[in-house]
Amino acid sequence: MANLPHFIQYQGSKRNLAKHLLQFFPRNINRLVEPFAGTAAISVATSKDQITRSFWLNDLNKPLIELLELAIERPDKIADSYLELWNEQHTNSVAHYFEVRSRFNEINDPKLFLYLLARCVKGSVRYNSEGLFNQSPDKRRKGTRPETMRKNIAGVSSLLKGKCRFTSLDYREVLEQIQEGDFIYMDPPYQGVCGNRDSRYLSGIDFDDFVLALEQLNQTGAVFAISYDGKLGNKTFGKVLPNSLNLERIEIEVGRSSQSTLLGKEETTIESLYLSPNLSRNLATNQASNISYILRKSKQLNFLKKNGEFAAATR
Ligand SMILES: C[S@@+](CC[C@H](N)C(=O)[O-])C[C@H]1O[C@@H](n2cnc3c(N)ncnc32)[C@H](O)[C@@H]1O
Repeated sequence: MANLPHFIQYQGSKRNLAKHLLQFFPRNINRLVEPFAGTAAISVATSKDQITRSFWLNDLNKPLIELLELAIERPDKIADSYLELWNEQHTNSVAHYFEVRSRFNEINDPKLFLYLLARCVKGSVRYNSEGLFNQSPDKRRKGTRPETMRKNIAGVSSLLKGKCRFTSLDYREVLEQIQEGDFIYMDPPYQGVCGNRDSRYLSGIDFDDFVLALEQLNQTGAVFAISYDGKLGNKTFGKVLPNSLNLERIEIEVGRSSQSTLLGKEETTIESLYLSPNLSRNLATNQASNISYILRKSKQLNFLKKNGEFAAATR
């Protein structure tokens, strides 16, 4: 799991958390649906774990989904175009980046997007209020080398090729089309300070709309898990989902924050994972034959008890 293939860095990617999250997933998934797929790190992880037959990757960010589709289905084509763009930058790489960025904002070509993602500051996408990509180039680096990019794309493609449906819809349209046997993993942008607008992504989501969509999903008996809020030291990020949804909230300690360590602080990052009633019940029902679930669960609870947060963390 440590070496999960990926070809772009992306804000909020769950690549490093996948091994923690997958512990709470069903062990046999007919179709994994990711309404907020981003870079599809969780689909990549479940494919590597061989627990999923097919995937539905959706993200409102159309060029991002088109890029994923190209990388998965036509890895050589996108790797060739990256090589071409990357080679063009040598005379004046900063000017070249801005030129590619303007072209991307006009035509939204996913091939240009790959170059921008590989070349922008800290690999972090940023959008202005008009939805235009406005991140600056990293002046110290030239972006992933083409041969490395080709290898990384091939790694992702080998796990997902021929198994995915790709769409660029609002998550609510995806949730309306859920079928029996689907397992849904949701990783929406967490509720920040800026409401529906979110410069970290092309779009944010409204908290109340999300809660309503989850209420409706619950009524269908769907099996799902959601990453939503978390903590860094004493600071919380994201808003906790309401008790009325009847979800089981697991707080997972995912490690020390390297940024805090640099600042001389000992802070731990905790990520919440919410389990739908059906998922939670299935995991508990299987526990007699699934000792590892009990162990995992008690490890979580020990951690929470130790930190005096037991009551708040499970319900
Ligand atoms: C936290 S990121 C997902 C990261 C992903 N789990 C990964 O590992 O790369 C959230 C994603 O939700 C997408 N998004 C925002 N609003 C959306 C909406 N209304 N419907 C579908 N996707 C949306 C964003 O474009 C962003 O890619």
